[in-house]
Amino acid sequence: MVYLRAWRGIIEEYREYLPIERDMPVVTLLEGNTPLLPAGNLAQRLEADIEIYLKFEGLNPTGSFKDRGMTLAVSKAVQDGAPVVVCASTGNTAASAAAYAARAGLRCIVVIPHAAVASGKLAQARVHGAQIVSIRGNFDVALAIVRELAAETGIVLVNSVNPWRIEGQKTAAFEIVDELGDAPDWLVIPVGNAGNITAYWKGFNECRVVGMASRCPRMAGYQATGAAPIVLGMIVKNPQTLASAIRIGNPASWAGAKTAADDSGGLIDSVSDGEIMEAYSLLAAVEGIFAEPSSCTSVAGVIKMARLGRFEKGQRVVAVLTGHGLKDPEAAMACDAYSLAGRSPEDGSRAVEGVVDADVESVRGLLGV
Ligand code: F0G
Repeated sequence: MVYLRAWRGIIEEYREYLPIERDMPVVTLLEGNTPLLPAGNLAQRLEADIEIYLKFEGLNPTGSFKDRGMTLAVSKAVQDGAPVVVCASTGNTAASAAAYAARAGLRCIVVIPHAAVASGKLAQARVHGAQIVSIRGNFDVALAIVRELAAETGIVLVNSVNPWRIEGQKTAAFEIVDELGDAPDWLVIPVGNAGNITAYWKGFNECRVVGMASRCPRMAGYQATGAAPIVLGMIVKNPQTLASAIRIGNPASWAGAKTAADDSGGLIDSVSDGEIMEAYSLLAAVEGIFAEPSSCTSVAGVIKMARLGRFEKGQRVVAVLTGHGLKDPEAAMACDAYSLAGRSPEDGSRAVEGVVDADVESVRGLLGV
């Protein structure tokens, strides 16, 4: 097949920045090249004189940033002749591992917290034929279990403790620098198991070393209040948040997140579930972007920082939207329709949905037209 000018996936596009051999078989779904969307309406709402950009990683092939790391982790597994990949997951890693394993013809095992994974992600793991084990326990326990499983030969762990995941995910920083011409002033990102913030920090540093960027951004990582071990400085035994993707109490890359925040002059902070859902509805209502709740932790972070006056005039702020909203339809359906549309019954807005009789008058009645 010959394309004249097409994106080739992150491995081919950034091969010179990845420590891989020429003959490594490449398993790709042409991930990466995601939009960096200017969010002018959001900036205006915040009355902040800053440029906000949204790195919409939900537009990767399986709907999350995990694909950048998974293309490399699965390619390496194939190169090493491993027949099985395994991961623990709050959902997105499972979806991504299942898809890349299917493409590579590998067996995929995913261990997930029972009844704690959004339905879209579970559907993906099922459709790609992964073996799905739901445990009566949280993500942290699942990760401990798969670490043991992967001690056996032939079973490759594809969580972000696998260094190839970090190598792949760092390419998102390259794309941002490629598009903006330099690093932004701030990079704001959700933090769960903390692999992604670690990867971005690595990527930005490498950009600076090779001269693609003149500096690194300050890194702001955001956890959910009920699952904020790094902010609290201690393991959270029973993490709770409706942002299920980041319901993690003992992040594997804790140290990496600390380094990113400390060395960049940034921070690790938390936002409440209320703030996350406020960001979720606001993004959908004013920017036309549907990102899953956990993703919106970054935007909630930007809103919090703007309110606290942490940005200087004219600064460039990139918020990473890690996963697509379609991953978690329950979250959307559970929201009050008024708040989603940025309206309220008090300001005289009419309902935005309703069931009526099948005639024009009834439809008019509901709409008020
Ligand atoms: N956002 C989304 C949508 C995620 O799925 C995750 C992690 C994160 C943010 C946090 O990224 O772990 O690198 O700090 N999801 C993992 C999973 C844990 O199993 O899908 P992180």
